[in-house]
Amino acid sequence: MYFKCAVVLSILIHGAWSATEQLKFPETFMFGAASAAYQIEGAWNESDKSPSMWDKLLHDRPEVVMDRSNGDVACDSYHLWRRDIEMLEELGMNMYRFSISWPRLLPTGFPNYISEDGKNYYNNLIDGLLEKGIQPMVTIYHFDLPQSLQDLGGWANPLITDWFADYANVVFSLYGDRVKYWITINEPMGMCDGGYGEFAAPYINDPYVGQYLCNKNTMVAHAKAYRIYDELYRDKYHGKLSISTLFFWFKPVEPEDQEITDLTIDLWASRYSHPIFSKEGGWPPKLERLLNENAKKQGYRYRLPPFTPEEIELVRGTYDYYALNHYTTRVVRRTKPGEKAGAWFFYGSPELNVRFDKDPRWRTTEIDWFAFYPEGLREQLNWLNTTYDVKEIIITENGIPTLNSGLVDIVRLDYYKEYLEQVLLAINDGINVTGYTAWTLMDNFEWLGGYVSNFGLYAVNFTHPNRTRTPRESARYFSKVTRSRMVHPNVDETKLNYVK
Ligand code: BGC
Repeated sequence: MYFKCAVVLSILIHGAWSATEQLKFPETFMFGAASAAYQIEGAWNESDKSPSMWDKLLHDRPEVVMDRSNGDVACDSYHLWRRDIEMLEELGMNMYRFSISWPRLLPTGFPNYISEDGKNYYNNLIDGLLEKGIQPMVTIYHFDLPQSLQDLGGWANPLITDWFADYANVVFSLYGDRVKYWITINEPMGMCDGGYGEFAAPYINDPYVGQYLCNKNTMVAHAKAYRIYDELYRDKYHGKLSISTLFFWFKPVEPEDQEITDLTIDLWASRYSHPIFSKEGGWPPKLERLLNENAKKQGYRYRLPPFTPEEIELVRGTYDYYALNHYTTRVVRRTKPGEKAGAWFFYGSPELNVRFDKDPRWRTTEIDWFAFYPEGLREQLNWLNTTYDVKEIIITENGIPTLNSGLVDIVRLDYYKEYLEQVLLAINDGINVTGYTAWTLMDNFEWLGGYVSNFGLYAVNFTHPNRTRTPRESARYFSKVTRSRMVHPNVDETKLNYVK
């Protein structure tokens, strides 16, 4: 018996290993890196750009950021975008995911005035990428709302669904001829649960009402933008649209914790996916019931504002692919009698009375919220594939933070190797994963984490006026993966077009 198990185990382990040693990413697979406007551009008040809600928050309340820094200059990509393209070339990337700053393009927040400089900045970036054979993947909104719209209620005001749709329409009209991959909104979870949970701008503490208004409004705003694309641009430009979802993977601590784990997945991710990607649309029913019961007990009408039947139809099916932001995995269990729930959203949920944490067997890093469980990515891709009728999945963020890792960031290199291996295995499982944009191209402004932790393939010298970018070991590794299309590449380094 023991012998039989050992043989099976050995086949499983060595089989998988030699399989990934030989497996290659398809020629059509898109490798890229990702970034976001506020995190890299700087030039916060250059030309006619108006302040975003992040500018306002961090100018008024620098103490909310770990090192009291902000994105005023960041990586200065507003001026150094040519170098960014060069780095993508060095890495051998054929896709670059970046976001457009709403207050840079539409300083009033509305299409009554389009900034010439803002428009040209993104035109230059897109043209520069295409000249090098790099597909632009554009995120229309990545957390940086014009402050003037925040003053009108921001994402808690249902009218934002039209404001966003009008902004998206301008973006499609300006860049749709060249951009084929779109993300309407990045991570509503970060915006809503973060923004109304004091993890992000607008830094409002309103976890019972504001968070859920934002939740609904992001779904409708995304859908309106998608419908505009369908109506006015799809026939001409044939682009693909989605919304990117931040989705830790969750596993039960014990088999009996599966039900609460499913509910945790609903709260974390299906709340932002079910309305769009499920056949029936609307909120995930079990979760909706439970949250609304909680709300009623506290004297509220509901947590999740109901969709009208028309809204369900408007939102349902508004995707061409699933855009997944995956970082790590958690194990889930119910709280024990007398025990407090873990803090929302990395460690648990008082709404569900659960705790989730790292499995003690997993490799941890110096960053508290992080653990290595690469298999989680493959498990999650399989879950997505069977739960929703998605024909294509793109991993739009995946990466690991380090503290002062210098240039020899072996932990990041290992992370990419092991997570990419799981992507390869998922493709081998038959899942149509067509692209992967690593988070992130270079160290940048990590929101409330400031410049303390970094995720970059390239290190950035934030005290140098040129914001010098230098490749890390992980970048060297990545550039071999893109050229060999293998996770265990055997590439002659001297042949790499690599700037030392
Ligand atoms: C966000 C990025 C952020 C990254 C790392 C993602 O959730 O989209 O803006 O920098 O996580 O925390």
